[in-house]
This record gives sequence, C-alpha cells and structure tokens, in this order.
Amino acid sequence: MKRIVIIGATSAIAHAAARLWAGQGAALFLVGRNAERLDINAADLRVRGAASVVVHAMDATDDAAHAPMLAAAVEALGGIDVSLIAHGTLPNQRECETDSARLRAEIETNGVSVCLLAQLFANRFVVQGGGTLAVIGSVAGDRGRQSNYVYGAAKGMVARFLEGLRNRLARSGVQVLLVKPGFVDTPMTAEFDKKGLLWAQPEGVAAGILKAIDGGRDVVYLPWFWRYIMWIIRHIPERLFKRLSL
Ligand SMILES: NC(=O)c1ccc[n+]([C@@H]2O[C@H](COP(=O)([O-])OP(=O)(O)OC[C@H]3O[C@@H](n4cnc5c(N)ncnc54)[C@H](OP(=O)(O)O)[C@@H]3O)[C@@H](O)[C@H]2O)c1
Repeated sequence: MKRIVIIGATSAIAHAAARLWAGQGAALFLVGRNAERLDINAADLRVRGAASVVVHAMDATDDAAHAPMLAAAVEALGGIDVSLIAHGTLPNQRECETDSARLRAEIETNGVSVCLLAQLFANRFVVQGGGTLAVIGSVAGDRGRQSNYVYGAAKGMVARFLEGLRNRLARSGVQVLLVKPGFVDTPMTAEFDKKGLLWAQPEGVAAGILKAIDGGRDVVYLPWFWRYIMWIIRHIPERLFKRLSL
C-alpha cells in the first residue's frame, strides 16, 4: 500500500491523480487551503477505494506551517512513499508588470513555496532511505515569454532547483520527478476560450504522472508531444524570439 502526500490536493490534476491512487488502495494525506473542498475530495476518494484519507488545511505559502504538516503526515501515514506538490496559480501577467506586491506573491506561490516544500520532503526521504518527490512544473518554465514570464520564471526556478536536488540525491535512492504539462483543461485555465488540439484533460495528465513515478523518470512532458514543441521553442535564436508575439 502506497502512502501518499498531496500538496494542493484540491487541484484538478492532483485530484485526478488521487483518484487513480485511491483505486490502487493507497493511503492518502491531502493538503490544501480550502478545508471544505478537501473534505469533499476525501469523501470521493474513500468511495473509490483509498485505504485511508486524512485532510490537512494549509496555505502552501505559510512557511511556518510546513514542518508541522510534515509531522502530521508522517504520524498519519507512518512514513511517506510519494509526495506530489501540485499547488499553483496562473498569474495575471499584465497586473504583475505594474504591481510589485502581486509579482512577489505569484513568485512566492509558484516558485519559492514549491522549493521549500520540495526540500522538506527530500530531506525526509533521505532520512527514510527512499521515496518519490513529484512536482508539477510547466512547459512555461522552459523559456520566458512576454505573455506569461512571471509564471514561467517561477516554474523555471522550480525546474532548476529540482535539477540540483536530483543531482544531490542521486545516490540516496530518492526519485525527484519534474512534471511539465502543456495546456490542461482545469479551473486554472477556465478563462481560455479556444481549447484546441494541444489541450489535455486532467485525467490523462494524472495517468502520465503515475506512469512517470512508476517508471522512475526524472522529467516528463505531458502529453509527450510537448517535449518536441518546447525543444523547438527553446532553440529559436533570442534575436528572433524577442520579436515574436508569444
Ligand atoms: N492547467 C494547466 O494548463 C497547467 C499547465 C501546466 C502546469 N499546470 C500546473 O498544474 C498544477 C495544478 O494545476 P491545475 O491545472 O490542476 O489547476 P487548479 O485546479 O486550479 O489547481 C490549482 C490548485 O492550487 C491550489 N493553490 C493555489 N495556491 C495555493 C496555496 N497558496 N496554498 C495551497 N494551495 C494553493 C488551489 O487551491 P484553491 O482551490 O484553494 O484555490 C488549487 O487547488 C499547478 O502547479 C499548475 O501550475 C497547470
């Protein structure tokens, strides 16, 4: 029986992953800032076969709450096999360009809080002698674009942080997985009106996350074709790239 902690467990992608784990009879510890929605999700996961579900209300940007959350998770589960860090917000790029407080808050949520939590779980896994840290980043972290470089910078920070963490833990038996989804149809992207061929559903991304964990992967693009799209985007010369309306 897998023992799993999910940060941002009210996320559509995270909940789809939790449903798959529940179907495998996992024990789940759900962390999110909306206690009412956590309870609703927990009831759903119990019906779907979870061995146990415990909920824990925490705002991921509240650093002081991180260590007590980990202690509560270890007490509830007896140990942790997988932690999935999934929380995030899609900033209003335009507002961030003129509002420093907003810019800082978005970087804190999507970048700093994720690194702090990643380190907390990683250190726990070292003590345990193994475990999987899976973090949801984004293809947006691969290159800064005028339309969303605040979000992209935060996701890029997470990618670089995990790269170093993975290197540090390479001999410790700890898997450090970075998940890079492309466009996913979730509440985060509800305001996008044209959802074409490049769009994925949270269930498909969730299945990809579980497969990447079970396959011991380091980095996974979901769906797979984003690896090639982002390869092209990363290789456009800066002289040309800065003039594009992306
Ligand atoms: N949807 C996409 O196209 C897409 C693409 C690439 C990457 N991603 C990433 O995928 C992850 C999951 O997003 P999603 O698409 O599933 O969107 P979602 O359903 O809107 O989920 C985002 C979740 O993050 C939680 N959250 C935000 N700030 C938080 C905080 N300070 N403390 C605790 N929880 C917080 C939200 O909680 P509340 O319910 O309390 O607001 C919400 O449950 C995010 O990291 C996102 O950046 C999404």
